[in-house]
Amino acid sequence: MGSSTPVWAIIPAAGTGQRMQSEIPKQYLSFQDKTVIEHCLDRLLAHPEIDGVVVVLRDDDQHWDAIAYAAEKPLFTTTGGRHRHDSVYSGLTTLQYRFGNDAIALVHDAVRPLVSHRDLSNVIEAARQHTAGAILATPVTDTLKRQGNDMEIYATLSRDGLWRALTPQVFHLQPLLNALKQVIDKNLSITDDAEAVELMGHAPRLVAGEADNFKITSPGDLSLAEKIWLNQRDQQNDE
Ligand code: C5P
Repeated sequence: MGSSTPVWAIIPAAGTGQRMQSEIPKQYLSFQDKTVIEHCLDRLLAHPEIDGVVVVLRDDDQHWDAIAYAAEKPLFTTTGGRHRHDSVYSGLTTLQYRFGNDAIALVHDAVRPLVSHRDLSNVIEAARQHTAGAILATPVTDTLKRQGNDMEIYATLSRDGLWRALTPQVFHLQPLLNALKQVIDKNLSITDDAEAVELMGHAPRLVAGEADNFKITSPGDLSLAEKIWLNQRDQQNDE
């Protein structure tokens, strides 16, 4: 991937957020007077290497229009599907329709508003150099247990070489589109975009990222996200 290939962010935001126990999907909950998805868009679009963004919404989305997000770079919306990979596929087809295949797709969850610019630069750079793409990840530091019957520990697993996959996950548009099409056509079940590429026999690269870039999943996560956000802002002001 050349250094001039444009980079487009795809933000799947078509989830319902059932684990959040909230009527409002988690990407539309707020801290510091902005919704989670606005924080996310602010971060991505302020990065100099990101040329624009495709936001993927539920077909019955009730919240996006009310935000009236004023983007300083091109922003398109499209509708998602039942599974996250259906939503990402939809975003990629929108991108391909408008710009052809010469693009790098940076897929980032709408519910990870704390990704740093340093991590964005690192994962984009790795994806430019590696044809199978690259993802942000953090090494597993806790001891891992396999559950047996009645919540008894069945086994302790080695955490050697184990990583937690984060987003962004960054790929050249065409191979990711092909990989996700296979997943959809064969009705496979995957948990991230890299897995689709792996199923095609390719090996995306792991890029060590910051644990701050966590996924807002449950109600307590919102106040934690706010604390980290304020901390990041203070650090930036000190630099
Ligand atoms: O549900 P999960 O936490 O895995 O969602 C991760 C991201 O994928 C969220 O931004 C969510 O809105 C999005 N998603 C989607 N379409 C779905 C399911 C999830 O765009 N069908």
